[in-house]
Amino acid sequence: MLLVGLGAVSTTTIAGVLAIRKGLAEPIGSLTQMGTIRLGKRTEGRTPKITDVVPLAGLDDLVFGGWDIFEDDCYAAARTAGVIEPSLLQKVRPDLEKIRPWPAVFDQRYVKRLDGPNVKKGRNKKDLAEQVISDIRTFKSDHKLDRLVMVWCGSTEVFMTESPAHATIEGLERALEDNEPSIPSSMVYAYAAIREGIPYANAAPNLSADIPALVALAAKTSAPLAGKDLKTGQTLIKTIIAPGLKARLLGISGWYSTNILGNRDGEVLEDPESFKTKEESKKSVLDYILQPTLYPELYENLCHMVRINYYPPRGDNKEGWDNIDLFGWLGYPMQLKINFLCRDSILAAPIVLDVALFLDLAKRAGMSGVQEWLSFYFKSPVHAPGLYPEHDLFIQLMKLKNTLRFLKGEDLITHLGREYYD
Ligand SMILES: NC(=O)c1ccc[n+]([C@@H]2O[C@H](COP(=O)([O-])OP(=O)(O)OC[C@H]3O[C@@H](n4cnc5c(N)ncnc54)[C@H](O)[C@@H]3O)[C@@H](O)[C@H]2O)c1
Repeated sequence: MLLVGLGAVSTTTIAGVLAIRKGLAEPIGSLTQMGTIRLGKRTEGRTPKITDVVPLAGLDDLVFGGWDIFEDDCYAAARTAGVIEPSLLQKVRPDLEKIRPWPAVFDQRYVKRLDGPNVKKGRNKKDLAEQVISDIRTFKSDHKLDRLVMVWCGSTEVFMTESPAHATIEGLERALEDNEPSIPSSMVYAYAAIREGIPYANAAPNLSADIPALVALAAKTSAPLAGKDLKTGQTLIKTIIAPGLKARLLGISGWYSTNILGNRDGEVLEDPESFKTKEESKKSVLDYILQPTLYPELYENLCHMVRINYYPPRGDNKEGWDNIDLFGWLGYPMQLKINFLCRDSILAAPIVLDVALFLDLAKRAGMSGVQEWLSFYFKSPVHAPGLYPEHDLFIQLMKLKNTLRFLKGEDLITHLGREYYD
């Protein structure tokens, strides 16, 4: 597993896998490790574990490598992140210390609040991409690896939209050579991975691989893609609650979400340009779930606001508040308040693991390009042009499990269930 950015999410993922491997903890929150899947009819009683149905790589087979702008090894970075207890980190310390980040492709223009010394130098962005490819090849041969997956767990870059340089593979390669500002660092890594045919996922909301040129390159090199922005914390809860309110046709006039968090991610998001990338990602979910054009009386006037406040004392332990103003029969108003004291990276780590294992499966199954069945894990799921993304967590889970059934030649489950009564 190649992780770009050895921060809170990456180190919690790596240290977690090492601890689970030693039997020191359980992989809670991971569908690949704990989930089951019903096969056949309800009367057949076949509900194996997902790991027993599809051939996923085992945790013992994983090897980790990554890049960061700071030189700290993975143990020191995990201590800085402060997510996992020092006593547990101590038990996996030697393996963590062996993971030292390679110099990063970084430009402060895209992440204003950060600066670090462990950065590559190159003639242009194409040259930097070639250096990333060289890191990948060396890692692969040094550890005698069969397969690789890359996940961007780096900081949220500034808000960018698609530009002409992103349209075709040739145009993108020219822009890399010409050092065009429309190519952020995350796109350089994505280009390197995809050119090598390596599955690529984006755990953050920035543009990265979500451009036509890289989707076209992924089709050519058979690289599966997933993203963007891990669905954890407040948005996870939003995509659990909103489909329920909509299912009962309860109206919503306002949804105010605010958060305090004090980790480095929170610090980066203090910059308005990085926050805008995050805000777009967090806000879009309700529009798609509630379908205001189909239900104007219920959702057309919804006022949806999202705030993130950097508050250092909290570290990675985020606190989110949601106030939902809803209305029911005859328009009578009600309120729902949610106060979630969550641990961001504890929610994110099992997702990084699952996405990596499922992307590796997709690659072996010959499924390249956008993997919509992995929408389950993301706030802004990548999707084909002309399609709207599916945000409802329960539809997403059904899609994911049906994809696994499809891969195994099992019947898809429609939940029609007439056969039990005929
Ligand atoms: N924790 C969550 O629940 C969650 C959920 C959704 C998305 N995310 C996103 O995941 C990303 C990682 O989150 P985190 O909490 O680990 O943040 P973090 O700040 O702890 O870690 C990010 C790391 O990336 C490094 N970095 C930045 N730019 C880089 C580059 N160009 N190359 C290599 N390294 C680079 C930073 O130095 C830092 O160590 C963020 O973008 C965050 O918004 C996190």
